[in-house]
Amino acid sequence: MLDLCLVVEELSKACGGVGVLFAVNALGSFPILLSGSDEQKQTYLPPIARGEKLIAFGLSERPAGSDASGLTTTARDDGDHWVLNGSKKWTTNGGAADIYSVFAVTDPTSKSRRISAIIVEKGDPGFEIGRAEDKMGIRCVPVVELHFDECRVPKNRLLGGRPGLGFKHAMMTLDRARPGVAAQAVGLAAGALELSTLYATQRKQFGQSISGFQMIQQMMADMASNVEAGRQLVYAAARACDAGVPELTKMAALSKLFATDMAMKVTTDAVQIFGGYGFMKDYPIEKYMRDAKITQIYEGTNQVQRLVIARNLIKEAGRLDHLAAFIPLPDHPNTLEDQARAESASAGA
Ligand code: CAA
Repeated sequence: MLDLCLVVEELSKACGGVGVLFAVNALGSFPILLSGSDEQKQTYLPPIARGEKLIAFGLSERPAGSDASGLTTTARDDGDHWVLNGSKKWTTNGGAADIYSVFAVTDPTSKSRRISAIIVEKGDPGFEIGRAEDKMGIRCVPVVELHFDECRVPKNRLLGGRPGLGFKHAMMTLDRARPGVAAQAVGLAAGALELSTLYATQRKQFGQSISGFQMIQQMMADMASNVEAGRQLVYAAARACDAGVPELTKMAALSKLFATDMAMKVTTDAVQIFGGYGFMKDYPIEKYMRDAKITQIYEGTNQVQRLVIARNLIKEAGRLDHLAAFIPLPDHPNTLEDQARAESASAGA
């Protein structure tokens, strides 16, 4: 993950679209890495690693964005095959990719084992690439709809060994992929900072470079501090994923939340430093701002990240029992005063 984040950051410094195009190969591959059989790993991963094939991730649908478990695409058990019906929305790399990790309902009656992950290949009968989105940013990378109409795929394309593990594996995948989006955001912010710093040293107003003005210097200093803070948080989250520590879900969400909000602010300030020229397409700086916006939305909106962080904090509070004595509840009989009295009594005795 750390290596991946370094590469995504560097690519995104020049172009956020290329950064995500690369990062999505990890997003699509994680379901196979996490739950694929040896045979599935051998079949699908080496051509992706060699750069011969791209992979995409099919989770979101028109009715199921943040509410990922509300997806409606189905996969029917039909002897030696799964038969898929439904549509996916916002599939990055769709059309360019040869391999798709697709999430579908295999047991509509189950609450917790409803969804499974299935590999679909370009060219499978009944699988079509649909509408390509006309986007505000990341315009070089395709984002499309996927359509499945009685799409038949062999039984051995199911991931996880048995049906029903798909949602859990989708969540585990997103935990590992979110630092990649955060790295994209850091790259965009760092690239915008570089360009706006250079511009500030060259652009003259009132007879001097605008970098000589303290109000510009303050913006530059704040931008640089925030970029560095975001970068270090992304690296920490990537290391947490690499180490497989239990806090990785929270760390991934923290890095995604902080780095992408930071990138939106930093790229907006970079446009501000370019002034009127920044608002025009004369310079590439407005592209950074447009590309940054989606990082606050995809792979889980930043509202979802806050939810994930808060849920994990609450879960971790269970481990803080040893501190409970220091914060007795107001109606608790054993207050701090009671304890102090008891301690001084026992000291006296
Ligand atoms: N790891 C492992 N298991 C997890 C988990 C995690 N991080 N998070 C949840 N689960 C498990 C739970 O333990 C629970 O299991 P049981 O049923 O066995 O108890 C199950 O999953 C359901 O969990 P929740 O009740 O927490 O699920 P929820 O419906 O409340 O949803 C959510 C939680 C966090 C909002 C989730 O739906 C979510 O992350 N939504 C955002 C979806 C998203 O990020 N989409 C991005 C699409 S990809 C994309 O954008 C790509 C691109 O274009 C570049």
